[in-house]
Amino acid sequence: MTITIKKLNHAVGAEVTGIDSASLLTENAVVDAVLDALETHGVLVFRDLHLDPETQVAFCRKLGDIDTEPGHHPVEGIYRVSLDTSKNSSASYLRATFDWHIDGCTPQDDAYPQKATMLTAKAVAASGGETEFASTYGAYDTLSESERAQLASLRVVHSLEASQRLVTENPTPEQLAVWRGRPSKEHPLVWTHKSGRRSLVLGASTDHVVGMESGESRALLDDLLRRCTAPERVYRHEWSLGDTVIWDNRGVIHRAAPYDPGSPREMLRTTVLGDEPIQ
Ligand code: OGA
Ligand code: MN
Repeated sequence: MTITIKKLNHAVGAEVTGIDSASLLTENAVVDAVLDALETHGVLVFRDLHLDPETQVAFCRKLGDIDTEPGHHPVEGIYRVSLDTSKNSSASYLRATFDWHIDGCTPQDDAYPQKATMLTAKAVAASGGETEFASTYGAYDTLSESERAQLASLRVVHSLEASQRLVTENPTPEQLAVWRGRPSKEHPLVWTHKSGRRSLVLGASTDHVVGMESGESRALLDDLLRRCTAPERVYRHEWSLGDTVIWDNRGVIHRAAPYDPGSPREMLRTTVLGDEPIQ
């Protein structure tokens, strides 16, 4: 078996070839190769893998502990991503995937953000529904020295309300109450990882910079997000049936391009739990 890893874009993402779904479980070298490549490239694309849900879960367990909360799917460890409420009764929340985000920035408890997320395309949209990725490690690396100094001590409040408001502008009092029932979280803007690398903690859940006037705060967060997700820094994955993509949720933000809520698009997601706080 020869694993080949080819960059997809200068800023983020690589395509992995030379692996079939059986070798994910039988070849131990694959696990280290995937973890290494994920750290280097942020996003890994496996085309035509046709991973079955059980194999997906078993492979992700080799990468770390996984989320086994019920996910609208019979296989433990799989969460069904679909806007069709007959397939996922919480589908309306998933509209928030249309904005750039890090998974797990506003957990119910003190869980760390996920380490990695894997999606396999079970059904694709007739149009739209691509998934886009941008490196927040890269976003930090492109800052000037004076910007790094300016951002180093900033802290940001993240909330479910901030991300949901982007897709539901006029919430009902009931919706607001549910969103506000989820505790907001304060995170540093610059995440210093165990590896020593730094990334920016950006995306839809950012509510405001602590202690900064609200207009200035929004302008700063929007500017950083815009630069992080400039078109030339984004990898956009156009899905075909059987594709699998995994991303490093600690150093990459992602979003889905809009697709019709009636679309058959269905992604099977497995989440590898985080092992480091945002600090
Ligand atoms: C997710 C997510 C994007 C997509 O499952 O966390 O953001 O393209 N999905 O479905
Ligand atoms: Mn997501």
